[in-house]
Amino acid sequence: MDIQNSDILVCRPALAKDKEAVLELSSHIWEGGDYIPSVWDEWLADPEGLFGVAEMHGRVAGVFKLTKFQENEWYMEGLRVHPDFQGQGVASHIHHYVVDTWRRIGGGIIRLVTGSYNVKIHRMCESTGFRRIAEFIPYRAPVDIEGTPDFSGLTMDEVTQAFEFIRGNPVHGLSSSLVNLGWVYGDLQLKHLKRAVEKKHAWWWRGCRGFLSIYEDDEDDANAPGIQLIACQVNELGDLLRDYRILIRLIGHQSAGWVAPNHPEVIDALEQNGFKRSWDASLYIFELRSD
Ligand SMILES: CC(C)(COP(=O)(O)OP(=O)(O)OC[C@H]1O[C@@H](n2cnc3c(N)ncnc32)[C@H](O)[C@@H]1OP(=O)(O)O)[C@@H](O)C(=O)NCCC(=O)NCCS
Repeated sequence: MDIQNSDILVCRPALAKDKEAVLELSSHIWEGGDYIPSVWDEWLADPEGLFGVAEMHGRVAGVFKLTKFQENEWYMEGLRVHPDFQGQGVASHIHHYVVDTWRRIGGGIIRLVTGSYNVKIHRMCESTGFRRIAEFIPYRAPVDIEGTPDFSGLTMDEVTQAFEFIRGNPVHGLSSSLVNLGWVYGDLQLKHLKRAVEKKHAWWWRGCRGFLSIYEDDEDDANAPGIQLIACQVNELGDLLRDYRILIRLIGHQSAGWVAPNHPEVIDALEQNGFKRSWDASLYIFELRSD
């Protein structure tokens, strides 16, 4: 059933008074495992982009966020429709509204990430001209191996050098040159490297032959970090992944993850070095560029 003319759906900025309704909506999403409650304050305070709700008959039917990463780089996230309103074109209406808003206030690139199973989102992306640019598959390995890997912590003074190294690197290219910010993907920026250095989460590997940085997956398990950025020659990727497992053991975590790009060289390197697929589904990255 599509939204009828008499069913007026209005998209507007979210307000503090919407909190209860949005949290109620969110409680129905992913069996209560939705992250919107934990980002509500931050998203409401974001002075850029648009954190919004879609209202129908005086009720919050949907929620969405258009986020500015940097000049000309935008991200669409947090799209949710209340189960009472699903299947009526609400998400589709919101999606078009967000794309129109992005064209009006931003432009450049806009991306979104969704599950390989989320056919409604794929459909909406196709109808608004988004292209699927990458697929990432979650892999994880235990850290029960010995060795003395050659990692040295990146320093603030080396951030620009690391940025240049990663930018032109073939393995980073296999990740569509994107940074994994924990279920969110964006272009490489110096600030991501600086934050990783502050957290002591970035290393050179074998001198300057490779680079690795990690994030801690607060959402699922703080003890299960994943790769934020990885760069080396393709024929050395297996060695770096093996050393990454040892590094993770040395810093006290229990398993090493990588939501890895779906390329045969990458999958081979993972499977030959003790990594196993940790989720049946995968993540699709969709992208739209303005003229
Ligand atoms: C995914 C979700 C947002 C969809 O909301 P919705 O209001 O039910 O979606 P709509 O009714 O607007 O349908 C969206 C599109 O899917 C199409 N569609 C509907 N059923 C479909 C099906 N079975 N197969 C393929 N496409 C389908 C619709 O035609 C529409 O496409 P169009 O824009 O080309 O017309 C909603 O189910 C939800 O909140 N899910 C949980 C959270 C989530 O997954 N969010 C997305 C994170 S990326």
